[in-house]
Amino acid sequence: MTAERILHPRLRDRVVSAEAAAAWIAPGETVAMSGFTGSGYPKAVPIALAQQIETAHQAGQPFQIKLMTGASTAPELDGALAKADGIALRMPFQTDPDARARINAGKLDYIDIHLSHVAQHVWFGFYGEIDTAVIEVTAIREDGSLVPSTSVGNNKTWLDLAKKIIIEVNEWQPADIDGMHDIYYGTALPPHRKPIPLVHGDDRIGQTTLNCDLDKVVAVVRTNGPDRNSPFTPADETSERIAGHLIEFLKHEVARGRLPANLLPLQSGVGNIPNAVLAGLANSGFRDLEAFTEVIQDGMLDLLKSGVLRYASCTGFALSPAANEEFKRNIAFYRERIVMRTQEISNHPELVRRLGCIGMNGMIEADLYGNVNSTHVMGSRIMNGIGGSGDFARNGFLSAFLSPSTAKNGTISSIVPMVSHVDHTEHDVAVVVTEQGLADLRGLTPKQRARVVIDHCVHPDYRAQLEDYFDRACRDAYGKHTPHLLPEALSWHQRWLDTGTMREG
Ligand code: COA
Repeated sequence: MTAERILHPRLRDRVVSAEAAAAWIAPGETVAMSGFTGSGYPKAVPIALAQQIETAHQAGQPFQIKLMTGASTAPELDGALAKADGIALRMPFQTDPDARARINAGKLDYIDIHLSHVAQHVWFGFYGEIDTAVIEVTAIREDGSLVPSTSVGNNKTWLDLAKKIIIEVNEWQPADIDGMHDIYYGTALPPHRKPIPLVHGDDRIGQTTLNCDLDKVVAVVRTNGPDRNSPFTPADETSERIAGHLIEFLKHEVARGRLPANLLPLQSGVGNIPNAVLAGLANSGFRDLEAFTEVIQDGMLDLLKSGVLRYASCTGFALSPAANEEFKRNIAFYRERIVMRTQEISNHPELVRRLGCIGMNGMIEADLYGNVNSTHVMGSRIMNGIGGSGDFARNGFLSAFLSPSTAKNGTISSIVPMVSHVDHTEHDVAVVVTEQGLADLRGLTPKQRARVVIDHCVHPDYRAQLEDYFDRACRDAYGKHTPHLLPEALSWHQRWLDTGTMREG
């Protein structure tokens, strides 16, 4: 018999089935749900809603919603609603295969924005009103305040702004997570903003629970289901080499006195390569590391466990099933070392700048001059979204972008003459790393940057081809500052679309 998680009597009286709760959501509504990278998302109401949408569609009635979250979720949310053709507009980040397919088929509108901007853009009214918030929590206290679960994301904003609220209380989440969160209620609209009183990455500046206007709560649903994330691909030779180059570079920066011995607070993006870097840090000799990041992945949990990482500040988790079990088993240990914040704080540009974070994010491709495309394959097909990478890339002390030098069995070079879509401009990118090596772009002119990118990052199969492009561009370009041959700049991408390879004949 587990202890009662809903301690407020009035809210206990509002417990209903997921189907009854979902029935509160009407066609055309803007629905804001919890969830950040496969953690803390509602598990039951979205599935029930998807069924109601399918039933409506079978009866010939239109039924779609506009869906906002913290970041990506899981098959029970994005997957179920996308499969039901229930989403008209999605923001701000997703990684779901079904949603991605619909977006790329032009059947689902998607707005991909910096994760730190989401809450304030909603306060500013850019997305209209929020009709319903659907929020997973771990427990409801006697006073009606909500103990968040494994992600905080934008939940504070959703609860503050939504006209009606549905709460899922998930008993699978560890009750002892209570106390891990730090919810800051000091944000305001300009011109009334005040400095955020966070000086160290592990400072606590808020309260452990979310406020909730109980009069807005229309339904409470009990659930008992796991957060779902795919296990990470184990590090292979390529990802280990990428990690090795970056770690060697960080040691070099310490030796030159440009970074302290325990580095600066780390941010690690989603994806297998950033996770491999975290795994590499475990045996790197670094100690007392700090993390001020969005997401805690398996690699970061391992670093906390081994003591290499002193603390981690985040807004959510992206853990494999095995790491989830480890987290739950040793929750008392992790509660002392993890602070979970709203994403407007975990990704706040001012804090990232002040703390001097080291951003480590994956990319699709980079170009000669250091512009980075994190999101679009061949310039038009969205993969995931920018997520929080831009919050850290522009504002951090050091911004590294990581990728294997080739993709799709070597038919694609990740280093191209000109990126086919730009997420991070040459002005925001400090370091580009592939398994071939690391290009340190800081302090270099565009042409010097091109030289180190060619020398250090390009796969040998594409090096002569890129060198030839750069030489001819330096000779024939209209301007000699950032030389490009416009008819050729995107020809590698077009060749891949036409012939299946970027390699020249
Ligand atoms: N051209 C075409 N496809 C490419 C590519 C390129 N240059 N580079 C990578 N890909 C494809 C891979 O083939 C793979 O496809 P598959 O799923 O069909 O196998 C997919 O992109 C993922 O690549 P992978 O090498 O496994 O790297 P990853 O898991 O580290 O992900 C990103 C790389 C760029 C997709 C990922 O880091 C991302 O979404 N970044 C943007 C968001 C972000 O940085 N968020 C930060 C915190 S929220």
